[in-house]
This record gives sequence, structure tokens and C-alpha cells, in this order.
Amino acid sequence: MGNLQLKSIRKAYGTHEVLKGIDLDVKDGEFVIFVGPSGCGKSTLLRTIAGLEDITSGAIVIDGQDVSITPPAKRGIAMVFQSYALYPHLTVRDNMGLGLKQAGSPKAIIDERVKAASGMLSLDPYLERRPAELSGGQRQRVAIGRAIVREPKLFLFDEPLSNLDAALRVQTRLEIAALHRRLKATMVYVTHDQVEAMTLADKIVVLNAGQIEQVGSPMELYNKPANLFVAGFIGSPQMNFIEGARLGLTEANTIGIRPEHLALSRTEGDWRGIITHVEHLGADTIVYLDTEKAGLITVRLFGEHGFKPDETVFATPDRSRLHRFSPEGKALAETA
Ligand SMILES: Nc1ncnc2c1ncn2[C@@H]1O[C@H](COP(=O)(O)OP(=O)(O)OP(=O)(O)O)[C@@H](O)[C@H]1O
Ligand SMILES: [Mg+2]
Repeated sequence: MGNLQLKSIRKAYGTHEVLKGIDLDVKDGEFVIFVGPSGCGKSTLLRTIAGLEDITSGAIVIDGQDVSITPPAKRGIAMVFQSYALYPHLTVRDNMGLGLKQAGSPKAIIDERVKAASGMLSLDPYLERRPAELSGGQRQRVAIGRAIVREPKLFLFDEPLSNLDAALRVQTRLEIAALHRRLKATMVYVTHDQVEAMTLADKIVVLNAGQIEQVGSPMELYNKPANLFVAGFIGSPQMNFIEGARLGLTEANTIGIRPEHLALSRTEGDWRGIITHVEHLGADTIVYLDTEKAGLITVRLFGEHGFKPDETVFATPDRSRLHRFSPEGKALAETA
């Protein structure tokens, strides 16, 4: 089992409060991802769960047991960091087995678990090598293997893929997804990468300045962001925000529309504007335009398009995809 409950977690360094009352329930087997701007407290929260940092107040409960002051080694948790932190003088096999060896497990058990993890992570050909003889991706897999052999109730990952190049990130991301399906273990994962968050998570937790802004499935956060912060944070390119008054809409202070929910035409449409910049990504074309009614907006078109800077065009929002926000930045219920 691997249920985790965070109850009003607060953490201060001196007078600087970094976590300002975090409440969260993570169910057994769930894949939960923390996202948020740099410095919002993601790593600190993960480290308090692991027991690497004390909490100032609140409670951390794992499978019904309060572990708030339990030492890290006794929490049944394994943590994987961005820096792999492998022992350079030990082989892959010994790096993976070290935790169990230190805990006094019999050699037969260590061998068996290392073999199973190595098979899962395609590390068999490298078991006798040392970390210096591996690529970054292979090292990260060893670090994940070292976590797996301990058979923890809870896996914690702090930006495990951010040292890898783009291709390796995708590959390792798919491996982590497969691993989660296979182990059915509870995973709590911190990332800056939107795609990782959207593709891996059962549940995303959006943090901002030490507080939770919203918790939901990737599609809930995409389709129904609770406030301006989440609306602007989830989705790339970012959602367009337009003052309601500018559009003659009085029911909302701010209107949001995602770049992919705008159509572009050379002949007709709602918002006339001039193209300032075009990005051709192959699969997508991103068009930036300056409109009279809605100001500067971004439009994302599927496929290749011949739009050029200085052209006059018309953008039209998909009305069913408009987001409405109050003056306080809270999402308003659909009115259309
Ligand atoms: N040991 C420490 N002493 C004092 N302040 C700290 C300490 N560790 C972290 N902080 C502060 O706590 C805040 C949260 O840091 P944290 O590392 O949790 O952010 P993060 O969300 O993981 O950011 P990033 O995305 O850059 O990794 C930051 O303002 C940071 O400066
Ligand atoms: Mg961090």
C-alpha cells in the first residue's frame, strides 16, 4: 500500500515561510505530479515527504501512520533526484544493491531484486560497469533501479529527466510510464516539463508561492482551470488573456482563450489584426498578431501555413472555448 496524506504542511526557513499549509490526498497507486514556478516549494515539499526536511507544523501520514518525525529510512520511501548521486567506485550492480545491503538483506534477495530491476530498465549489459562508463540516460536508469530494488511504498522523483537530452527524455518518460503501470506503485513527481506533467500524471498539483492553486487531472486543468494562475501556467503557448471591457463583455473581468482555439483567416473574422511574427514548427504554426479589439494575441494552427509578418488577418475564437475570470482572477461558471 502507498496512501499518502499531507495535512496542513507548513515549512519555514527562519522567518521565510516556504510551504504555507499544504493539504493533499494521494491514493495508493496514483501518479501525482507537482508543477509550479521556480522557487514555489516543489522540492521542499518532496523533501519533507521523504523526511529529508523537518516540517514546521502539520502532519505527513503514510498508510494511516503519522510519519512526520519518522527518520527517512523508516518511511518506506525511495527518492530519485535530478543528479543521480551514484557511487563512482561501485559497479551498476553494487550501486543498485547498496541500500539493501546496508539494510542487511541476504545476498540471494539482493541478487534477485537487482536482476528484476535491471531487466525492467534494460540495464543487463551494464551491470558490471561503473557510472563513469555510462551515458546520462543510463545513469538515471540506475538511479531509478536503485529505488525499485527497495520496493518502496512510495516513489518520489525530483525532476529526474532534466539532465537528459530531448530524445532521451522522451524515451525515459515512456519507460517511467511503463514502470508505473507495471509496479502499480504510488509516485510523486516534480517537473518543469508540461508534456511530462500532462502525459504521466493521474493528478497534477499546481503550486504557487508555497500554496496549492488547483489539483486535478491533466484535462481538468486544461479545460477548467480554476483561476488565472492555473490558466496561464498549464498549456503552451500560454492562454491569451483579454480584458472583458475591451470586448464589450461586462460579465467577466478577463477573458481567456487558448492559442489553439482561435481560427485565422485572411478575409473575415472577429478580431482584425496585423501579424507581428510567425513561428513555423512543422507540425504547428504559431502566429503572433496585434489586434485592434483584443490586443496582442497568439494563434496556434495545426500544420504548415503561409502567413507572413505585416499581413492583415482576422482571428476568430471558438466561443465554446472561452474562459471567463472575475476581477479576483477566479474562473466564472459558463454563461454561454
Ligand atoms: N535550506 C534552505 N534554506 C533557506 N531557504 C531555502 C532552503 N531551501 C530552499 N529554500 C527556499 O525555499 C523556496 C522553495 O525552494 P524549492 O527548492 O522548494 O523550490 P522549487 O519549487 O523546487 O524550485 P525549482 O523549480 O527551482 O527547483 C525558495 O525560495 C528557496 O530559496
Ligand atoms: Mg526544485
